[in-house]
Amino acid sequence: MKIEAGWLFMAEDTKFTTAQVLSWIAGQKDKALRFIGGTKDDMSVVLASKNDLTSMIAFFANKNSDEDAQDARKALAAAALEVRHKAYGNRVFFRGLIEFTNYCKNDCYYCGIGRSQSQVHRYRLSDEEILSCCRTGEKLGYHSFVLQGGEDPSYTDDHMCAIIRMIRGAYPNTAITLSLGEKSHESYLKYFEAGANRYLLRHETATDEHYRLLHPEELSLSHRKDCLYDLMSIGYQVGAGFMVGSPFQTPENLAADLVFLQELAPHMVGIGPFIPSSGTRFADFPAGSLQQTLVMLALTRLLLPEVLLPSTTALGTIDPLGREKGFGYGANVVMPNLSPTSVRADYALYDNKICIGDDAVDCQKCLNGRILRSGNMPDYTRGDHRDFLPEDIQTSDIV
Ligand code: SAM
Ligand code: FES
Repeated sequence: MKIEAGWLFMAEDTKFTTAQVLSWIAGQKDKALRFIGGTKDDMSVVLASKNDLTSMIAFFANKNSDEDAQDARKALAAAALEVRHKAYGNRVFFRGLIEFTNYCKNDCYYCGIGRSQSQVHRYRLSDEEILSCCRTGEKLGYHSFVLQGGEDPSYTDDHMCAIIRMIRGAYPNTAITLSLGEKSHESYLKYFEAGANRYLLRHETATDEHYRLLHPEELSLSHRKDCLYDLMSIGYQVGAGFMVGSPFQTPENLAADLVFLQELAPHMVGIGPFIPSSGTRFADFPAGSLQQTLVMLALTRLLLPEVLLPSTTALGTIDPLGREKGFGYGANVVMPNLSPTSVRADYALYDNKICIGDDAVDCQKCLNGRILRSGNMPDYTRGDHRDFLPEDIQTSDIV
């Protein structure tokens, strides 16, 4: 396939008509519904080809305003919603997010907290401050905490394990998720043994050449992928993911992201629009679009029917109703912030991030309302992936 000047030059064999799009959606939905509750290790049931995925993505990107495309979009949303309901009902799971450090040794070209962003005021939360965020989360009823930060070498493995043990000791039944970037197998294992259960590490883009355009030389896609496979082998519930509309991205790149997700079969997938961050080399690039992010959410739901899929803060940043729209396209997780409001603005991955002035209670109320108004049900339980649920509540209690 030849791609020049955007996405309009598609080879004939990767062009889909509206009829083909509708038929692909119907077929993929049937496969996804069959997969749920079926043989868990047989991903081949739901596999889709890279050509078909490229065609789907390009169809929606190129025909944004056509009436036909509107109908196809509705069919895609309806299919994703039906699959989501079959897997998890209308529940939307809460994860309390603690952004505990914004120091980062990396310099991803898109990221507002990269090490060369000298305008950023840097902070680290103390262990006591982290625990206090967890206490707030507990009071709000949450059973899932996410510790996220830049890659901050000042946290040794011993220190990280001490933090994990501290939280595990205080909250034995709560899920502890880490999002600390790329580490050795040994470090991941230590954190797991200390009590962490989940790890979020977006692969960012599954295409080498595209990865090179977004990252400095010292970072590599192959290492990031190795980390994801390490995490899977240790027994974490693993989240991969990518940005939509990142600079230089093509429909083929996005299709490659979906193909990689099919191979990895992670338990969670973080998908949000790229949003420019002033101070970075991509400050003047356009943000990813709402429509395209929704399409990628829905396709991910159809390919990984039981995945946990956040409606991200970035989606809420590019559209005031972005998160509600995300639920309608198959998303079923929200990640309200538990970090102290005094540091929120400093964890500025991109410009105009929402919720910066809202405390944890405000965020909970706001999200509850959004979830209920969109016909969904807030759920504060651990929200494990179906593969990690106890046998006795595997299927029937969920649907
Ligand atoms: N250090 C950890 C890591 O590398 O995974 C976690 C923190 S990292 C900042 C969290 C995620 O923010 C990244 O995986 C990336 O996808 C997202 N992100 C960074 N800059 C962004 C931007 N400008 N727009 C949208 N998302 C961005
Ligand atoms: Fe720190 Fe990208 S610059 S995670």
